[in-house]
Amino acid sequence: MKNILIIGGTGFLGSAITREIARRPATADFSLTLPTRRRDRSRHLALLPTANIVEANVHDPATLERLMRGQDAVISLVGVLKGGEGEPYGHGFARAHAELPAKIAAAAKATNVRRVLHVSALKVAADAPSGYLRSKAAGEAALQAAGLDLTIFRPSVIFGQGDSFLTLFAKMAKVAPFFPLACADARFQPVWVDDVVAAVVDSLERPESIGQTYDLCGPKVYALRELVSFATAAGGHKRFVFGIPDAIAWLQAWAMEFIPNGPMTRDNIRSMRIDSVCDAGCGLPFGRVATPLEAVAPTYL
Ligand SMILES: NC(=O)c1ccc[n+]([C@@H]2O[C@H](COP(=O)([O-])OP(=O)(O)OC[C@H]3O[C@@H](n4cnc5c(N)ncnc54)[C@H](OP(=O)(O)O)[C@@H]3O)[C@@H](O)[C@H]2O)c1
Repeated sequence: MKNILIIGGTGFLGSAITREIARRPATADFSLTLPTRRRDRSRHLALLPTANIVEANVHDPATLERLMRGQDAVISLVGVLKGGEGEPYGHGFARAHAELPAKIAAAAKATNVRRVLHVSALKVAADAPSGYLRSKAAGEAALQAAGLDLTIFRPSVIFGQGDSFLTLFAKMAKVAPFFPLACADARFQPVWVDDVVAAVVDSLERPESIGQTYDLCGPKVYALRELVSFATAAGGHKRFVFGIPDAIAWLQAWAMEFIPNGPMTRDNIRSMRIDSVCDAGCGLPFGRVATPLEAVAPTYL
């Protein structure tokens, strides 16, 4: 492995993966190509000498093939939390989660790139309650059907410096005197970004990861209300958090869909009807021990 294409590499997880590959002595000389829709949003990676950030439309099959040519592996990370409404999923989910992985599979086959690492999400399924989870399942299926040397990662919610989950609640607490919360009892098993990064980067170097699907979770399960309380307190603004009835939560989410970058959609509520936790108390791959939320989150919140 020397040349790696990281699609979706400019985001929260992709940036951490890129930095880790550049940091490890065994991978520090890898050449990384990171396509982005807007180069100016990726300035935080520009100083890494091994990361080549290119503006490109990865949805265009010819562009994807050109990016893929000469690569030894592809890491597929594109994901959206808002993809609209529709059956079996909204247009945004179809494009980013189902069609793009299918295009990646086709381009990988056309250019003879066998090794693909794909980040999906915990509890994806064709019959899951949300478009997010159903479209992610379709993306996995497209890659699996292509007969590639594939590894799939399914994290629960990821926390760490720069996350958009705990950080959002900590920021909101600065202005909100209390938190009326939808799906307050939804359960998560948050996993540290560095633990997810380690699973992905280790897999690049471990042939036994080919053909595997890894569920990635932290050591402990929390209700959403506990996570919000924790984040507001760790950010220095402890707030009263209380659950709101489902019907009001639904209306609130619907109204928020009209706000650009609103924090919640109806599809997010559907996703939270399934607990994002490991069924069999999963551990991390390659013997790594999951890092507790309490050990890391207060340092950046
Ligand atoms: N963060 C979590 O808690 C979490 C939990 C479970 C699963 N995951 C999965 O992990 C992956 C990475 O998540 P993340 O938190 O790093 O996401 P992120 O910070 O939002 O980054 C998303 C990346 O995808 C690219 N992207 C987004 N929409 C795109 C589109 N329509 N077309 C092309 N590129 C697009 C962005 O590139 P540009 O903006 O530079 O073009 C960016 O590099 C996703 O697949 C996500 O579903 C994340």
